[in-house]
Amino acid sequence: MERLDEIIKKDMKELLYDAKTIQKRIVELGENITDFYKNESNELVVVGILRGSCMFYSDLIKCINLPIHIDFMAISSYGSSSTSGIVKIIKDIEEDIMGKNVLIVEDIIDTGKTLKYLLNYFRERGANSVKVASLLDKPKRRLVEISGDFVGFEVPDDFIVGYGLDYNQSYRNIPYIVSLKREVYS
Ligand code: IMP
Ligand code: MG
Repeated sequence: MERLDEIIKKDMKELLYDAKTIQKRIVELGENITDFYKNESNELVVVGILRGSCMFYSDLIKCINLPIHIDFMAISSYGSSSTSGIVKIIKDIEEDIMGKNVLIVEDIIDTGKTLKYLLNYFRERGANSVKVASLLDKPKRRLVEISGDFVGFEVPDDFIVGYGLDYNQSYRNIPYIVSLKREVYS
């Protein structure tokens, strides 16, 4: 097999955020989240959206200085990538979230359609509140009016991979965030 660092050297357009910068930002997000929920008496359930949020999730929850329950949801979008807005649930959460505070942890907000679906999904199940932590935000591509509550970085309208984010299931295990050359994904 070809080494991953060699593949990235060929396919990368730009290094956006190195591992140290990502960790520093996650510490800040953890502090903001802790501050936001510290006076809440309801339970906090932190729901990671698989698979893209895996790395962000595990680093972020270590920086939340409050008791939490962890849970996961695996979803995929119908049709080409995320444009349809119809979300298929592959694995549902296991917690009963009635009356609890839900913090969704996402990798990236792109068109916003996935997030819109998830917000409705948790609200309909009786959550006391639903907030969103997203590592990345790509506001130029937004099709529905929606924004994250705790956002790591704003990224340009390129295809982004690494630190959990994939292109065709590849590149997820790169410990930093890069944009891909257009010829790699078009
Ligand atoms: P949305 O519904 O268009 O906001 O799509 C959100 C989902 O699409 C994310 O959770 C990602 O899985 C995927 N996605 C959107 N943009 C990118 C990208 O630049 N790189 C990798 N995945 C992306
Ligand atoms: Mg994805």
